[in-house]
Amino acid sequence: MKHAAIRIIQDEHLAISAVLYCLRHQVRRMRDQGAPPNFALLHAIFDYIVSYPDRWHHPKEDRYLFARVRRRTHEADRLLAELEREHELGHPLIEELKRALVDFECGRPGARDRLFDAAERYVRLEWEHMRKEEDLLLPIAERMLSAEDWQEILEAFRENDNPLFGLKPRDEANLLYRRILALFPEIRARSPAAV
Ligand SMILES: [Fe+2]
Ligand SMILES: [Fe+2]
Repeated sequence: MKHAAIRIIQDEHLAISAVLYCLRHQVRRMRDQGAPPNFALLHAIFDYIVSYPDRWHHPKEDRYLFARVRRRTHEADRLLAELEREHELGHPLIEELKRALVDFECGRPGARDRLFDAAERYVRLEWEHMRKEEDLLLPIAERMLSAEDWQEILEAFRENDNPLFGLKPRDEANLLYRRILALFPEIRARSPAAV
C-alpha cells in the first residue's frame, strides 16, 4: 500500500512536470527565438494546471498525506507549513498567468513579458515544491505512517470521482494532458502516460 500510494504521487508529479516543461519550453521559444505564440497550447496548459495540480493534486496532499504526517510526528511541522504555503502561493500565480495570457492575446502592452515572468516563476515554484515533497517529506512519511494511514492515502489518490473535488477531475485532466501532448510533439516521446 505504501509503495502503491507513493508511486501514484510520483506519477502525478511526473505528469505535472511534463506539462511544466512544455510551458517553459514554449515561453523560451517565444522569448529567445521569437517563435509565434501557440495560444491553443498555452490555454490547454493553463486549463490543466487549474484542474489538476491546483484543484486535485495539492488538495489531496493537504487533506490526506500532510494531515496524516502531522498526526504522527512533529518532525515535519516546519516543512509541512512551507509546503502548504507553496500550495497557496500557486493559486494567485495561476490567476496572474491566466490574466497575462488573455492580455497577451488581446495585444495589451507589457502582457507578453508579464506572462513570461509569471510562467518562469510558476514552473520554478512547482518544480522545487515537488522535489521537496519527494526528497524531504515522503521519506519522513515512509518512516512514520502506519498501514492504515497509507490505506487512506492510497484510496484518496486512487479516487476518480470524488465529489469533494468536482466531477471526474482525473478524467478531465487526462483529456487535457492528451490534448497538450497532441499540440506539443516535442514532448510526446519523453512524457509519462496520462495518470
Ligand atoms: Fe504539493
Ligand atoms: Fe505534490
